[in-house]
Amino acid sequence: MLIYSPEPTLSNGLPTSSLLTNVTEALGQVPIVQLNKIHPICQHHHLYLKLESCNPGGSIKEKNAAYLVAEAEKQGLLSPGGTIVESSSGNFGIGLAIVGATKGYRVMIVIDAKTPVTMRRMLTAYGAELVEVPLTAADAQGSMQVARMAKAQELATSIPGAWYPCQHKNPSNTVAHELWTAREIEAAFHGAPDAIAIGVSTAGQLGGISRYFKQHYPQTRIIGVDVAGSAIFGTPRHPYKMTGLGLSFVPPNFDPQVLDAAYSVDDRLAFSVCHALAKQEGMLLGASTGAIVAAALADAQRFTQPQTMLLLNPDRGDRYLETVYNADWLTAQNIHILNNANLITAICDLSPVPLNIVSKK
Ligand SMILES: Cc1ncc(COP(=O)(O)O)c(C=O)c1O
Repeated sequence: MLIYSPEPTLSNGLPTSSLLTNVTEALGQVPIVQLNKIHPICQHHHLYLKLESCNPGGSIKEKNAAYLVAEAEKQGLLSPGGTIVESSSGNFGIGLAIVGATKGYRVMIVIDAKTPVTMRRMLTAYGAELVEVPLTAADAQGSMQVARMAKAQELATSIPGAWYPCQHKNPSNTVAHELWTAREIEAAFHGAPDAIAIGVSTAGQLGGISRYFKQHYPQTRIIGVDVAGSAIFGTPRHPYKMTGLGLSFVPPNFDPQVLDAAYSVDDRLAFSVCHALAKQEGMLLGASTGAIVAAALADAQRFTQPQTMLLLNPDRGDRYLETVYNADWLTAQNIHILNNANLITAICDLSPVPLNIVSKK
């Protein structure tokens, strides 16, 4: 069972590592680190990144993978010798592959042409089998998410003992973050920060964390962040290179009412912030983190009183060495990384999506 312990064990005044029975018990015990140099506003407001990239497989999605598998076992949907089938842009698939490895399940992940090479290699290294939907399955905006989900459903129906968690539609996808990630934030702040910035795709994190904070700390502002071009916030759809954020449809776990602010961040700004985080803060993080940090900085500048903000970092940057951090790939995509001065201006110019647009589902 997953156990969260907010205090490190102390022995002779030194923190000690816990002795864990398997790798899934290491989930969730991640550092929270302040941003200092990326933007002058960090001297006035206090922005903290919760480094979920420090989970054993490098992302926050291992937490809901572990939770959903445990729930499926309890409900008899998954039994020894069973197969887990899921559509994933990578991180949730890696989470399932890790849990599957520890519990002896076969894991099949449906990916598409946008899935970065490193993600594919990681999935395969953890023992997952990959099924790729062809480019011909893309919709008009280039998204293959719906096709991937249909393929996962088809595989789950045809393989005896297979279970399809369907992270995009499963209401329990939020619960791990309500029970677990939200409480970690509460423990770290001995209460609640002024605002929490959360990336949105399946809305698992947004749904779970906002439910906890709206109930216990309604004054905490919830900031949702998506990639420009995605369908979730009701803004115009267009192709984007970001993986992790965004969807071609509005997921059932997305409730616009929980949002106090929403930001759509384009690839260039998100990737530029990623480069700046690595070079100025010493943190090599995933593409969605660039969007989340840009949005939180843009939001902070609207306040004169110092704000304490918690930003959820979903994953590590090494998955993106062939893409976001690869100059040749960026050139091929016609994406030019902003220099520091232009980055600060672009963040200043980033406006929230009007909430009346977001709530029109
Ligand atoms: C890198 C990254 N960022 C953000 C998200 C969005 O998380 P959620 O699905 O909980 O909305 C995901 C989801 O897969 C992700 O992989």
